[in-house]
Formats: sequence, structure tokens, C-alpha cells
Amino acid sequence: MLTVQGLRKSYGGVQALRELSFTATPGRVIGLLGPNGSGKSTTINLLTGLMRPSAGTVCWQGVDIHQQLVAYQALLGYVPEEPRLYAYLTAVEYLTLVGGLRDLDGTIVARRVDRFLELFGLETDRYSPLSSFSKGMRQKVLISAALLHDPQVVILDEPDSGLDVASTLMLRSAVRTLAQAGKTVVYSSHVLDMVEKVCTDVIILHHGTVVAQDSVARLRELSKAPSLEAVFATLAVDDNVDATGRSIAEVGTL
Ligand SMILES: Nc1ncnc2c1ncn2[C@@H]1O[C@H](COP(=O)(O)OP(=O)(O)OP(=O)(O)O)[C@@H](O)[C@H]1O
Ligand SMILES: [Mg+2]
Repeated sequence: MLTVQGLRKSYGGVQALRELSFTATPGRVIGLLGPNGSGKSTTINLLTGLMRPSAGTVCWQGVDIHQQLVAYQALLGYVPEEPRLYAYLTAVEYLTLVGGLRDLDGTIVARRVDRFLELFGLETDRYSPLSSFSKGMRQKVLISAALLHDPQVVILDEPDSGLDVASTLMLRSAVRTLAQAGKTVVYSSHVLDMVEKVCTDVIILHHGTVVAQDSVARLRELSKAPSLEAVFATLAVDDNVDATGRSIAEVGTL
């Protein structure tokens, strides 16, 4: 169980996350939803232990993750926001490297890598350098790397970024299956539909503040809105998006 208590993060003067508390139990998928700059990646970085909070704690099985960081990160699967990969490695080389760092047996890694490449339709690209991969292809490699060691906690920062429709649906199904298998999942997205279809619980952030936090079903009910999109629109989207969009399109003519 992942327990987040009074989590806060400031970068210098910027309060990126003001106060966040939640518990993520096995089988739940916690959705972190919010517009750009709302604090999703900051939260994700705190949950992975890659960053230390300004205040508050993240505990795994009741113990602060920073007191057991190596053990905690060993059971963590993480898809970062930025697909930073070693450009000159092939997909197979990269995933084999990750498998080695995860201390997995070479035969098992080879089997799992083959299967990921097959399922993601990357077999013909297995010997191409990652520098030649498209954004969606890189994302598939990152997802494979995150799931290679059968993690107990899966933390995904906009994992659907760059994926086509079929791959997005596959990812959706994979996340649901991971939860059903008893994994604890945190999923950050600004795609409302994805959160609504995949997550059991949702935390909506706006300027680092939690503006809504409940089960997806209850949030919809509470707001009497037909979909979470309406909840989100009420809570987190500025009124003037259309007008701003028109102005952006016109800047080049000023
Ligand atoms: N390393 C950093 N140094 C200073 N400020 C930062 C840093 N990282 C994030 N911020 C600030 O913290 C706030 C939250 O950023 P964060 O990356 O968590 O947002 P996000 O919800 O993930 O946005 P996006 O949807 O664009 O990925 C923003 O105001 C951002 O400018
Ligand atoms: Mg982000």
C-alpha cells in the first residue's frame, strides 16, 4: 500500500504541489489529472522517490520510501514524462540493459523482450537504433522497460503520449489488467477520457492544489455531470480557452 501524507513541493518560490494526501491500494488505479503545470509530474517524481518532498511523506507498506529507496525502486515500474533513451542502442539492447540492471535472468529478459516487441509491433525495428524511433515507438519501449520486471507499483507519467489509437486502447487494457493482478497503479494524464476509462480514483490538480479527489464514479455523481470531462471543465479549465486559441493563431499576423 502506498500512503501519501501531506505532500508538498516547492521549487524556489514556486509552490508546485501544495498539499496532497491519498492511499493507493493494490487493484486501484489512481488518476492524476490536471492541466499543464498543475503539478502532475512533480507528484509523480515524489512518488518514485526521484525527488524529495518539501514536506510530507510517501510511505510504502508503512515505511517512508526514502528509508528503503533501493528496495522500493526495485519493485517500481516507472514511465517518465520524457522518453530519454540511449540513442545508439537498439530496442533489444536497451531493454536487455534494463533487465540486467533489474537483476533479471538473461533468458527471462530475452523472452520478455521478444514478447514486448511482438505485442507492440516493433519486431522489424528490433535492430534499429533508438534514435531512429518515432515518438510513439519510443513510448512503447519505455512502457516495456517499466513492465519488464513485473513491478508491484506502476507509476505512469502521461504514458499515452504519442501513442496511436490502437496502442492507446492496448495500454488502457494493460493498465486495467495490471490493477486486476493486484498492482498499485498511479496514472498521470491530461486526457480526460483516458482517466475516466482506466482509473478507479481521480485526483484533479490545478496550480498545485487538489481541486477534487474521489472515486471516478462518485465524482461524476457528485457533480451531476454526465462525464468527468464536465467535472474537469467546471473545476480546472479557464473560461477563455477559445478566445486564447484564436489569439495564438493570430500572433503571426501582428
Ligand atoms: N525543476 C523545476 N524547477 C522549477 N520549477 C519547476 C520544476 N519542475 C516543475 N516546475 C514548476 O512546477 C509547476 C508544476 O509542474 P509539473 O511539471 O509538475 O506540471 P505537470 O502537471 O506535470 O504539467 P504538464 O501537463 O505540462 O506535464 C509548474 O509551475 C512548473 O513550472
Ligand atoms: Mg508533466
